[in-house]
Amino acid sequence: MSTKSNKKIVTLSTLKKFKKNSEKFTCLTAYESTMASVISTAGVDVILVGDSLGMVIQGHDSTLPVTMDQLIYHLECVVKGNKGSHIMADMPFMSYSTDDLGLENAKRLMQAGANSVKIEGGQWISKMAQVLSDRGIPVCAHMGLTPQTINRIGGHRVQGRDPSQKEKIINEAIALEKAGASMLLLECVPGELAKTITKEIKIPVIGIGAGVHTDGQIMVVHDLLGISCLDKPPKFVKNFMKTSTSISGAIKRYVKEVKNNKFPSKEHTFD
Ligand code: KIV
Repeated sequence: MSTKSNKKIVTLSTLKKFKKNSEKFTCLTAYESTMASVISTAGVDVILVGDSLGMVIQGHDSTLPVTMDQLIYHLECVVKGNKGSHIMADMPFMSYSTDDLGLENAKRLMQAGANSVKIEGGQWISKMAQVLSDRGIPVCAHMGLTPQTINRIGGHRVQGRDPSQKEKIINEAIALEKAGASMLLLECVPGELAKTITKEIKIPVIGIGAGVHTDGQIMVVHDLLGISCLDKPPKFVKNFMKTSTSISGAIKRYVKEVKNNKFPSKEHTFD
């Protein structure tokens, strides 16, 4: 962390240093100012303004309806409450389907206060990762289960279990790092696959439903707080409110458990 006007600021270099020192880092989603302030004050390193807002805020059954204008509205709210966490903003569905569109939309997110942007996909996003990175925009490549392609995947399924898919994901992760991605996010992949990729590449790897071996962990804040419209939360979700008496306490416990390699445990990991 670096300091500016007594304010701790998490930068990309901070995250790289965490990886180098084998120190875990934490990420959480936020969509508005008060929660961003609580999350940041509790010591979370990265706040993701995720397109999961389509599901947890807007009540859609996927992330696909989220627009750039909506994402920017929530990003601006988060920026106001942030106390120095790194802010990553999701690029919504189809907002980076061409180079020109991707550049224009990433520019809007960075000008609204994001420190990095996240795009979903494998090999096909390596060109976009390079185009943005060459222009100074840090990119996190989201791989494994990619919610924006849920219709093609055919549901919320663990990715990379069969040997050919596993090989493909490893090769794509390497290609994305070469193309200039600054971070990788792995969603719903077997813990051993996430471990291999985290060792193989130098950029920080963030996991959700990817086991304990990634460099950082991320959760949707509503999941951490045990508030969900689903009847049964996914395997990788842990309700930290069960052992805390306040929201801030639950978030601090999450930070502590990630830093101490206690979360995610085996019960939250896919084989
Ligand atoms: O949009 C989001 O919240 C995400 C996380 C699930 C990683 O992409």
